Amino acid sequence: MSNGANHNCATDRHPERSRRIPLSNRNPLLRDSSTPLGMTESNMVRHIYVHIPFCARICPYCAFYKDLLDRSQTWRFCEAVLQELAERDRRARRLLPSTIYFGGGTPTALNLAQLELLLRGFHEELDLSQLVEWTMEANPGSVSARKATLLKKFGVNRISLGVQSWDEELLKLLGREHNAQQGEESFRTLRAAGFTNINIDLMFGLPGQIPDQWRATLERTIALQPEHISTYCLTYEEDTEFFMRHVQGEFRQDANADADFFEMTMAILEDAGYGHYEISNYARAGFESVHNRAYWLGKDYLGIGPSAVSTIGMQRWQNVCDYRAYIDRVLSGQSPRASIENLTKEMKRTERIALSLRTRDGVPGSELKGFARQTDEFIGLGLLERSNGGLVLTRKGKVLADSVAEAFL
Ligand SMILES: C[S@@+](CC[C@H](N)C(=O)[O-])C[C@H]1O[C@@H](n2cnc3c(N)ncnc32)[C@H](O)[C@@H]1O
Ligand code: SF4
Repeated sequence: MSNGANHNCATDRHPERSRRIPLSNRNPLLRDSSTPLGMTESNMVRHIYVHIPFCARICPYCAFYKDLLDRSQTWRFCEAVLQELAERDRRARRLLPSTIYFGGGTPTALNLAQLELLLRGFHEELDLSQLVEWTMEANPGSVSARKATLLKKFGVNRISLGVQSWDEELLKLLGREHNAQQGEESFRTLRAAGFTNINIDLMFGLPGQIPDQWRATLERTIALQPEHISTYCLTYEEDTEFFMRHVQGEFRQDANADADFFEMTMAILEDAGYGHYEISNYARAGFESVHNRAYWLGKDYLGIGPSAVSTIGMQRWQNVCDYRAYIDRVLSGQSPRASIENLTKEMKRTERIALSLRTRDGVPGSELKGFARQTDEFIGLGLLERSNGGLVLTRKGKVLADSVAEAFL
């Protein structure tokens, strides 16, 4: 998921090598080139998330902050995003991004001119000389050759395409705005525009889904040869139509079936040459998401846009969710922050453990000093193993990753 920071107002979850981006149209009048006083390169903010909340159609399972596309609001929205970015940059003067992630919602729901305004604005405001990855989430319903060319021209070098399934019936159940053919055409359009780093998002554990359908979806995905594949087990999120249907007993969750889907995913994708580098993420060597890795390592990041979360130093804040309130606040010179939390070292440490445990590199031994009893127990149960001085989940442990992580919180 966004994969990127998944800025869900209800649950506030964390989220999802490359060549240097050639285009760096930095405007020297807007920002001076030296590292700000007192800032070393190591404490600059390196990761920026931008939340674009618009969707052409609302999927009945989705709890990300989003709203129906309202063309009368999108220009003002883009202006507000650029103003927030400029304000943060002016105040903190510590933005030197190595990754930028435009997530949502659906960033590609914006039209060509709006996307160009945003991308140009980022080039003008920021020093992009150290940028290695610029991701944009895209929905097959709103990808076009002209948009793909524009994104490429402005230095976006990674696309995360929300395909979810290649099964027409399941796509209908998911309320998607596209069919399987449009999914495939969008992928080919992105390739033709020159994108060499594409992720495909898929979902499993869907109501009525059978193993053969999931196998076929994985195989059709592999046949397209994306560099990265994210596979998410359906979560029945509160305040969604799917949640209601689950509560009413129409949709049932089957933990054993979900575990079987997950095992099948690992077997098929690893066999096809995709490294399983995080519970929900698989990549060809060298194409692991740099942005998501930064979250999992507990690095600072700045979130721009409605509902976006930022964590910088020992503070975490979240912007107001409602995008109209966000626009009004930013354009009238007020802060869009809705809440601020002071973090403790202990909070940051436990978060780092929970997130890094889900990764292939695992948790460094130094982080787990106070947890000798839990680690011994999990090693005894065959869920964790020692590796390179740290601890990583075994194959059996990956299936139970959430329960293992909970024991360390
Ligand atoms: C914010 S969405 C972005 C992509 C774009 N809006 C789209 O849907 O095509 C990121 C991904 O989260 C996953 N996702 C959304 N809701 C989910 C849920 N309730 N359970 C599991 N995965 C979910 C989907 O795979 C989706 O592509
Ligand atoms: S298009 Fe993506 S963000 Fe929008 S409602 Fe569907 S899953 Fe959520």
